[in-house]
Amino acid sequence: MQPLRIALTKGRLEKSTVALLEQTGMDCSQLRDKGRRLILPVGDGSLQAVLAKAADVITYVEHGVCDMGVVGKDTIMENGSRFFEILDLGFGRCGFALAAPKGSDFYGGYRVKTVATKYPNVARRFFEGKQMDVRIIKIEGSVELAPLLGLSDGIVDIVETGATLRENGLEVIERVADVSARLIVNAASLKLRKREIEALAARLEREIKKGEQ
Ligand code: PRP
Repeated sequence: MQPLRIALTKGRLEKSTVALLEQTGMDCSQLRDKGRRLILPVGDGSLQAVLAKAADVITYVEHGVCDMGVVGKDTIMENGSRFFEILDLGFGRCGFALAAPKGSDFYGGYRVKTVATKYPNVARRFFEGKQMDVRIIKIEGSVELAPLLGLSDGIVDIVETGATLRENGLEVIERVADVSARLIVNAASLKLRKREIEALAARLEREIKKGEQ
């Protein structure tokens, strides 16, 4: 039988996932010593990890070339979910927020406001929910720059510690959504390999619960 394939979001979420897998007793030595390899065996070889960028984790799981994935709720909210989200992994906690230059009264006045963001779908839905007309500009990173340079009135972005906002003279106007890492599963895999997937999810959940105590 082919190993179950799990796509991990490279970087911080990858490190937390490896730590969690190790807590369940799985050998992650290859993942820890991966060099430039992108596909690595985990544990007794019944699991195989694939390292990818967040949005690509979703693509690989949606297309079924990976059975499962670990990805942030932020990426899920932006890219949609044609897969099952079966577990909140509890790490990678942060949030989406609307932020603007300190004291700028974002909601004041009648002029249509401009918002810069890496997450245009999340931002659009947020303002639609308020029935507020805004112009959204897509930015690829360091979104905080946009209002500082006068490109936008505000931003919708990830806030973790709040340091980036603070150090750049911005403040949270409103919290948009909570974010954390999620375990996602391809729909066909969940039918065909239900027992193995549920067993792995249960092992992970047990360790998460232990950590919460
Ligand atoms: C994220 C996010 C904020 C920052 C928030 O950026 O977009 O800029 O972290 O973290 P803080 O509240 O703890 O300061 P990231 O480091 O991923 O880089 P990017 O902006 O270039 O995408």
